Amino acid sequence: MMKVAAAATSLSLVAAAPYTPPTYTTPSNLTHPGLDILAKRAGLLYFGTAIDNVVLNNTAYVSIAHNVSEFGQATPSNGQKWMYIEPQQNVFNYSMADAIMKPAKEAGQMRRCHTFAWHSQLPDWVNNGNWTKETLTAVLENHIKNEAQYFKDDCYAWDVVNEAFEDDGSLRNSIWLQVMGPEYIELAFKWARQYTGNGTRLYYNDYGIERVNNKSLAVAEMAKDFIARDIPIDGVGLQAHFTVGRAPTYDEVSAALTLFDDLKLETALTELDVRILLPDSPEKQELQAEVYTNATKACVDVAECVGVTVWDFWDPVSWVPESFPGYGNACLLDDDLQRKPAYYAIEKMLDEVAKK
Ligand code: G3I
Repeated sequence: MMKVAAAATSLSLVAAAPYTPPTYTTPSNLTHPGLDILAKRAGLLYFGTAIDNVVLNNTAYVSIAHNVSEFGQATPSNGQKWMYIEPQQNVFNYSMADAIMKPAKEAGQMRRCHTFAWHSQLPDWVNNGNWTKETLTAVLENHIKNEAQYFKDDCYAWDVVNEAFEDDGSLRNSIWLQVMGPEYIELAFKWARQYTGNGTRLYYNDYGIERVNNKSLAVAEMAKDFIARDIPIDGVGLQAHFTVGRAPTYDEVSAALTLFDDLKLETALTELDVRILLPDSPEKQELQAEVYTNATKACVDVAECVGVTVWDFWDPVSWVPESFPGYGNACLLDDDLQRKPAYYAIEKMLDEVAKK
């Protein structure tokens, strides 16, 4: 898919009360237009964010989350996961997802939908079931069918299968692999194509594939095999969960994106954040800014990379502290919803690209 031509965009600032972005003069003396506006000018389809249900009572957070000039795309962080969508067998609940999907649609934001088949956040009835290959296959198809048909044309893309590989390139020994064998992946993609709306992009999504390594090469081999066998797949999502001091360089991210570019697959950075080993410091924030900018620039420069989604934009909501004790401050806005150096560095880079 060719990048969307960076359309001329008005500088009209969409700032829903009570959140009013601080004025920031970019090199061309433009007031702060918003990251999505600048990303589109730089040739990306969107700059987006994950949005979590846990803070939907915070009006300042919500007004930024659905500010389409800032984030032209939204991903429910949790609401579309199996444990919330189908908490009991064949009982479906879309309320958590709708709390994000509906306002996003009303705000004019594209929606990435996340995720059909994953080893995590499964309800107990799936994890503890006494399944045969036949019965679990029917359960997986029924789940995908119901969720895909509910969201139908609402998703620009679905993360059909999430995190199916290990770092060494082998397949993760999930319940899906144990009971159904490796074909659960292609079956999930076939059902996703069958039951989602026309034009929905079907992505494989994973972390640790932002360098050329055993894992990204294994994903590329799977994608190549799917293409050869007409198994529907449209894109690969590189989650891009990075750590200051250990993050891939611009060249490394570009090379990983190019693995899939060469297969004419769409790519996207789907969960970008850059965690810091606390305590934080101005120096660490400058390094964080460099990592965010390098990753975003790599997506801008690689033809089939269509967009960047940050895995939430507000530090207090980030998954990082719970998962990586001692790390935090991974997002673009700090506890006070103030932009950090990383925000301004991305903004400056996108503005400069657009002016070339
Ligand atoms: O739903 C319960 C709620 O009922 C309870 O009151 C609350 C108490 O803490 O916990 C809630 O569940 C939490 C859930 O997020 C919803 O907020 C879980 O404890 C928490 O572990 C879970 O974390 C999520 C994590 O996936 C689970 O692995 C993060 O928010 C979410 O950002 C993160 O996202 C994943 C992507 O889906 C896939 N890629 C990796 C990324 C980071 O793990």
